[in-house]
Amino acid sequence: MKKISTISLFIFGVVLTSILTAGLVFYQDNKTSKSSLFKAKTVQNVTSSTNTSTTKITPSNKTMTLNMNEISKHNSETDCFMLISGKVYDITSFFGSHPGGNSTMAPTCGTDATNAYMTKDPYATDSTSGRGHSSRAKNMLNDYYIGDLNQTIAL
Ligand code: HEM
Repeated sequence: MKKISTISLFIFGVVLTSILTAGLVFYQDNKTSKSSLFKAKTVQNVTSSTNTSTTKITPSNKTMTLNMNEISKHNSETDCFMLISGKVYDITSFFGSHPGGNSTMAPTCGTDATNAYMTKDPYATDSTSGRGHSSRAKNMLNDYYIGDLNQTIAL
């Protein structure tokens, strides 16, 4: 009788150990595949064509190169990119809030708006005429910065 109980106990121990081992292996496996999934979603780098800075992008690999051809496509109040002093800004969401009104900014969408921004005159041909924006306005620009001219950015 004692022998039978010892054998049963041994079998129970073996079964229990097997179940626990299988559970542990399954758990580890699951963890590994989750982490490789995460790795697949981890960002990659795209290098700017003009400088060595890198931009993080998602695996969709959708990018946009901020050259003049691209900027010129975003030329309306509902989709407005501007180049100001070599930096590209997506000003679209600022329409409706600009203290100088929409009509002053609208003609400069899709263009090199450096002179317009420096002078507050949308049709300025140089940056010296007119009055410049305040430092508050200059700080606001940071909120709309999307990249440097010719930089490739992630979408
Ligand atoms: C590039 C085309 C732009 C033109 C032609 C333009 C023109 C003007 C004009 C006529 C005024 C009103 C006059 C005045 O208050 O002195 C003004 C004010 C202002 N604009 Fe613009 N603007 C432009 C872009 C921007 C952008 C991109 C920002 C910021 C993201 C901005 C921010 C402001 C601010 C904060 C004011 C209030 C006055 C100041 O702080 O200088 N503007 N702008």
